[in-house]
Amino acid sequence: SHKAFIFDLDGVIVDTAKYHFLAWQKIANRLGIEFTHEHNEQLKGVSRIRSLDLILSLGGKEITQEEKDQYLLEKNEDYLEYIINMKEDEILEGVVPVLQYLKDNGQKIALGSASKNARPILEKVSILHFFDAIVDGNDVTNAKPDPEVFLRAAQLVGALASDAIVFEDSVAGVQAANIAGMISIGIGDAKTLHEAQYNFNDFTEIHTDFLQTLVKK
Ligand code: BG6
Ligand code: MG
Repeated sequence: SHKAFIFDLDGVIVDTAKYHFLAWQKIANRLGIEFTHEHNEQLKGVSRIRSLDLILSLGGKEITQEEKDQYLLEKNEDYLEYIINMKEDEILEGVVPVLQYLKDNGQKIALGSASKNARPILEKVSILHFFDAIVDGNDVTNAKPDPEVFLRAAQLVGALASDAIVFEDSVAGVQAANIAGMISIGIGDAKTLHEAQYNFNDFTEIHTDFLQTLVKK
């Protein structure tokens, strides 16, 4: 059977992790909760709802459901303002050559993202055509580190979990891939992502000989 190459979106394909951070920091500030880059690592890959709950627990704060809904709405409105003008130049360096190589070699490519904004972002940066399947925050009920998003992505392209390779920049996402029994590739700080089977700082470090070994594994 064939492989599935599954990509996370935010912080892996596009440089949107910084926008999520800025939007959450604004919310945390308004709640009077300190929110650092280090705290943010725990939010990467995590659904919008869970992210707010994590911020609230950081500050030991409890608010009503109505207030939560309002903050979630405002966070997303703020985030949408950041991404509205996104263009191809916000695709992270080295990503397109890897996607192109996999496509040229007949490999299945899927998206496995927690974001409900995934499709419009892929459209904005003009790389929707690379993907054989897209699973995003609108499709799953269990957030990473639950493996649901990656299991569905593999299933949609007809691959076994053990034949899937996941590219992730988040701790929660690496854990989700590992729980699914997939190969996990951490993109970013190797210390933060020490649970990944392979680590790279970015896609410019991923060469075709490495991709070839994954294809043949
Ligand atoms: C993940 C991001 O990809 O998607 C998280 O890493 C974000 O930071 C999550 O909270 C949900 O995204 P959205 O766009 O639905 O708020
Ligand atoms: Mg990510």
